[in-house]
Amino acid sequence: MIEEYCQIDMKEDKTDNLMKIDELKQLKNEILSEIGNSSTYEIVEEKRIKYLSKKGMIPELFSKIKEVQNQDKKEFGQILNSLREEAYELINRLKAGFSNNEDNKIDLTLPGRKLPVGKYHPLYKMRDEIKQIFRQMGFSVAIGPEIETEHYIFDALNMPEWHPARKVTDSLYVDKDSQLLLRTETSSVQIRTMEKSDPPYRIICPGRVYRNEKENSTHTAMFMQLEGLYVDENVSFAELKGTLLAFFKHLYGQETNVRFRPHYFPFTEPSAEVDVTCFKCGGDGCSLCKNSGWIELGGCGMVHPKLLENVGVDSEKYTGFAFGLGIERLTMLKYGLNDIRDIYENDLRFLEQF
Ligand code: DAH
Repeated sequence: MIEEYCQIDMKEDKTDNLMKIDELKQLKNEILSEIGNSSTYEIVEEKRIKYLSKKGMIPELFSKIKEVQNQDKKEFGQILNSLREEAYELINRLKAGFSNNEDNKIDLTLPGRKLPVGKYHPLYKMRDEIKQIFRQMGFSVAIGPEIETEHYIFDALNMPEWHPARKVTDSLYVDKDSQLLLRTETSSVQIRTMEKSDPPYRIICPGRVYRNEKENSTHTAMFMQLEGLYVDENVSFAELKGTLLAFFKHLYGQETNVRFRPHYFPFTEPSAEVDVTCFKCGGDGCSLCKNSGWIELGGCGMVHPKLLENVGVDSEKYTGFAFGLGIERLTMLKYGLNDIRDIYENDLRFLEQF
C-alpha cells in the first residue's frame, strides 16, 4: 500500500492521479504504525533507512510537493513535516528501548539465581514417619471427624458425668445444646472404628484435637494426637509394652527404653503413663528431662471392658490395648525444639531448617 502511493506519478496531469490530502494522512498513519511494529533494533534501523535516509520515502515525498496542486501545497507540506518529525521521534525512542535491552543481555556465564524450595513441615514429617512405622507393624490408619458429639468423646469412652473435660471451660463446644464440640482427643476414633466392623482391630489415628487452653511454650489450643488401638483375642499388656518399645526404638534409636507408671484414664483399665529414656542425657539426668532421666510421652492401657460392651464387642472373648501420644511433643523431642508455638507460626526461618 505504502509503496503503491509512492509510485504515483505526480507529474501526470490528471488530478485523479495526484495524491490527495486524505491519502497522505492515511499514508502517514501507515508509515508510523509500520515503524512502531518493529520488533528489534535492526528492524528499526531498516525502517529508518527506508523512510528517513536521503533516498528514503519521506524525502522523496517532499520532493513531490512542487507537483501538488497549489491550494493543497501548504497542508501537504505540513503533514509531511509532522510525519518526518514523528517518525524521527518514534525511531529514536524505539532504538533507545532496544539498546537498553542490549545492555541487559543475558550473561550465560553468571551463576544461576537460587529459587526458594518448599519443604515438608516438621509436624507432618513426623506424622508420616509414625504412620510408616506402625504400618510395618500391621496397623492401618483410621480417621474420624474433628467436630464430635458428646457421645463419642465422653459417653462411649466411659467418661464419668463429673469429668471436667465435659465443661465449656475445658472443651471447645460448637453448640452446647446439640452437644457438638471440637474433639478433645482422638480416642473417639476407637469407638467409631469398633462400631463399624467386628474385631480384630489394629489401627492408629493421627489427628488434630482442640482444647480450651491458654497457650504457652508447651501447650496450644489445637494440637495433634496419635491414637492407637489393638483389640483381638488374648491381647496382653506385654504386647502394649512391646509395641510402644518397638515404636520408640524406631523413632529415637535402638538404645531407647520405656517405662510405665500407673495412672487413671476412664477408657483403660489398668492405665499407665509412658516415659522414654531421655535421649539428650541417655538417662543420666539433664535439663530436658528435669534430672529424672525420663521423658513423659503419653497415656496408655488395656481397653476398658465397658468400651467393648458399648460397641457390642464380647469383652470376655476380646481384650485390647490403646494409647494416646502427643505428636508435637514427639516432634519437639526429635528435633530439639523448645517452644510448641514455633510449629504453628509458619515462620520461614524456622520451617527452612527441616
Ligand atoms: N485420650 C488421652 C488424652 O487425651 C490420651 C490417652 C490415654 C489415649 C490413654 C488412650 C489411652 O488411648 O489408652 O489425654
